[in-house]
Amino acid sequence: MVTDTPDRRFHVVIPCAGSGSRANIGAPKQYALLNGIPMVVHAVRSFQGVRGLSQSVLVVAPDDSAMVDVFKQWPQPKFFVSHTGGATRAQSVLAGLNALKAKGVGPDEWVLVHDAARCLLTPQLIEKLLLACLVDKVGGLLALPLPDTLKSESNGRVDITLDRSGKWLAQTPQMFRLEMLFQALMSADESVTDEASAMEMSGLSPLLVPSAAFNFKVTYAEDLQMAQAILADRSVSTVLAT
Ligand code: CTP
Ligand code: MG
Repeated sequence: MVTDTPDRRFHVVIPCAGSGSRANIGAPKQYALLNGIPMVVHAVRSFQGVRGLSQSVLVVAPDDSAMVDVFKQWPQPKFFVSHTGGATRAQSVLAGLNALKAKGVGPDEWVLVHDAARCLLTPQLIEKLLLACLVDKVGGLLALPLPDTLKSESNGRVDITLDRSGKWLAQTPQMFRLEMLFQALMSADESVTDEASAMEMSGLSPLLVPSAAFNFKVTYAEDLQMAQAILADRSVSTVLAT
């Protein structure tokens, strides 16, 4: 059992500066309303109440004019908004880490990086990640063992069926120590789409922590309907339980 010591403390960086081009819903998907609440608020709320949550940052695009109003309507204790998002997700995460450093967060402190577009995360999954990684030298990520048969393609037809054993789908949060992650992202190449890949390029092996399929990333417009249905089901279950 992990005790409530300063070692339990963690910070969150939520990159939220994307344009949602694949969802293509006329506005950045993080503001899409699910059950009447912006997607990003669902993502941030999953951290509220998790023991150890400390000063955290939501990184939006420099010209974002919506997030401040969203935070006024749905206040999020411990989170501040930084208008320092970059051209890539990695640049937005780096900007978030810099914002935490500027607030005095130390190099060895734990940081959980989480996509604003993964709005179905639960405190239970965060707890699972924390328990696994707080005692780990490198840190790790929530991930899902590949459930389906895996094909590689050539000109739109199956080239070969690949062995799916030992293959995982990377999710977020991804949890690393601030300065190790900062250095890894600084030296990673443009191709990285998550923090774990940057750590791997630095020669480190992040821990895979088994997650759940519901922690998917809203990427396409139809994913919004699926997320909405799950959130609606959760709120019905909560009402029934009270
Ligand atoms: N993100 C970011 N800065 C960028 C690009 C992405 O902060 N320059 C964030 C997104 O806002 C999202 C997370 O990274 O919370 C995951 O990215 P993704 O799902 O790819 O979102 P978008 O980049 O907005 O979508 P798309 O790739 O379809 O344009
Ligand atoms: Mg993207």
